[in-house]
Amino acid sequence: MERYKLAIVGATGLVGKTLLEILKEENLIDQFDITMFVSDENSGKVMVFGGREFPLFSLKTKVVKRKFDFVFFSAGDDVSKMWAETFAKNGAYVIDNSNAFRREKGVPLVVPEINAEKITKNTKIIANPNCSTIELVLVLDKLRKLAKMKKIVVSTYQAVSGAGAKALSDLASRTSFEIKEGINDNAIAYIGEYSNDGFCKEEDKIMFETQKILEENLSICASTVRIPIPFCHLESVYVEFESDVDLNEIKSLFDGKIVKFSSEIVLPTECHGKNTTYVFRLRKLSEKEIAFFVLADNLRRGASFNAIEILKYIMNSLV
Ligand SMILES: NC(=O)c1ccc[n+]([C@@H]2O[C@H](COP(=O)([O-])OP(=O)(O)OC[C@H]3O[C@@H](n4cnc5c(N)ncnc54)[C@H](OP(=O)(O)O)[C@@H]3O)[C@@H](O)[C@H]2O)c1
Repeated sequence: MERYKLAIVGATGLVGKTLLEILKEENLIDQFDITMFVSDENSGKVMVFGGREFPLFSLKTKVVKRKFDFVFFSAGDDVSKMWAETFAKNGAYVIDNSNAFRREKGVPLVVPEINAEKITKNTKIIANPNCSTIELVLVLDKLRKLAKMKKIVVSTYQAVSGAGAKALSDLASRTSFEIKEGINDNAIAYIGEYSNDGFCKEEDKIMFETQKILEENLSICASTVRIPIPFCHLESVYVEFESDVDLNEIKSLFDGKIVKFSSEIVLPTECHGKNTTYVFRLRKLSEKEIAFFVLADNLRRGASFNAIEILKYIMNSLV
């Protein structure tokens, strides 16, 4: 069997390593010849995964010129902006975890269970949405089947791994190299730089991306907070509908295949390592208004699992 040629840019990072773990769990890894790209600093070293040794390459080496079928980018916006098109022009489907292309008109922003059909044979760069957006839209996409949504208010409690390996190391070693306010014992009420309107970058991403994916003009307000837990993003969500809704009908939407309703609270420590999105503490404020919590593993459902679902869709439908 001829193997697909897969490159992972950022293979040693939190998302990169989770991509490898999921490929292994899903018995897909043997279908690929994998090339790993990292920063110049670590080029020439070796990474051991699944008993195999993988050489690590800089993007400045001529390995970049090889022909790849698929390339995952998980090395930040600047690296994607600089290199994604080079791989795409050379024939690869590029699945980008960064924010670099999410707002571009011609680039599909994909959560496969919602809008996989946005990827066509002519698509070359596919944007993976922001981690907090993915778990939110999975739930909203189900809810809008019951009634039209009028207003959404979401507040997040986001894990430190969402800011990458260096931030996670700040949490473990009680330092503040990456998160300057110091994440230990704190809750930091913004994520990313501020825009002119006072919202921060993470809030802008959630508000813009939700509307792009659902293809609806929604009244949506996001507030994002970084909290000192290692994994999983918790979100408190309020939704107002245009017509009455029934709580039992809502619960039955979340049957566990993609989103699971839980009558008990779910802890981040229980959610970590799972690909499921959880909904719990569902409450009704009026006939048209509900509130609930959503929880998902940011590195899995919010990044690597979603990216691999995109890869599987392309493999099964387009190549
Ligand atoms: N963490 C999350 O929950 C999450 C969720 C959704 C999306 N994302 C996005 O996914 C991307 C990666 O996030 P992460 O959390 O995995 O970050 P991370 O843990 O900091 O890993 C970054 C990776 O990028 C590599 N890298 C850095 N500079 C590079 C360069 N110039 N050329 C090639 N590789 C380079 C690093 O290699 P070295 O080991 O050599 O430094 C490392 O493998 C980011 O764009 C992030 O916004 C993250």
